[in-house]
Amino acid sequence: MQIINSPQAFQTLRKTLTDSVGFVPTMGNLHKGHASLVHKSKQENDITVLSIFINPTQFNNPEDFKNYPKTLEDDVTLAKNIGVDYLFLPNNSDIYPDDYNYKVSESKISTLLEGKCRPGHFEGMLTVVLKLLLIVLPTRTYFGEKDYQQYKLVQKMAEAFFLETDVIGCETVRNENNLPLSSRNNRFTAEQFEAVQAFPKIFHANLAPAEIKQQLTQSGFEVEYVEEYEGRRFAAVKYAGIRLIDNIGENT
Ligand code: PAJ
Repeated sequence: MQIINSPQAFQTLRKTLTDSVGFVPTMGNLHKGHASLVHKSKQENDITVLSIFINPTQFNNPEDFKNYPKTLEDDVTLAKNIGVDYLFLPNNSDIYPDDYNYKVSESKISTLLEGKCRPGHFEGMLTVVLKLLLIVLPTRTYFGEKDYQQYKLVQKMAEAFFLETDVIGCETVRNENNLPLSSRNNRFTAEQFEAVQAFPKIFHANLAPAEIKQQLTQSGFEVEYVEEYEGRRFAAVKYAGIRLIDNIGENT
């Protein structure tokens, strides 16, 4: 596995790659959810690129950015072990030479659900993803359905700006209790982690959104939303100040 630090170095390398390139953008603290995206990319492409960049512009809450788990050494080892070919590790000034004066905004899907609760989040996310896609120029790009709204926003951005990449959604990887794996899960104490196992149990029960909301509140969750949109059910809650999200479609 080769590690590349600057956009310019990656762009030079990219000119030498003639085979298909799969790309998995991440913010690190890699777990089996990220690994599943890499596996899919390896199945479908000759070369797999993984990026790790904790993007400051998508954190609407500075505390959340400060507390975001940083585990670069372990991430490099894991990326190597799962067969990543190129690890792209840019820094903040490399990615934002413009000091974030240029932004990508979307005015429909990004106003709903996560967008309503996290002002500026999707603007920062779309901006960094566009930059990464223009640097990596992947044949295919892999996104987790855990962040379903993000996946759809990126897919539609690629269409809107004629980006020549297929944006592919990958099934959410969950623990034995159906809780989606997430980097933020590492911030819970053992006791809190035990308590949050109730989230998927309640959310996946076949109940009306209002009933789900009530049961979650009774179990100590601060509910941000439980809503249905285009045949999918979405939820965001906080426990001990840490956010959890999930969504389920008609067929999942
Ligand atoms: P991050 O939270 O690190 O997630 C990187 C990718 O892994 C996303 O596509 C996310 O949906 C996927 N992922 C995370 N947990 C997953 C799980 N349990 N099952 C399946 N896929 C999972 O999402 C981001 O980073 C950032 O917003 C990013 C796209 C990198 C832009 O900064």
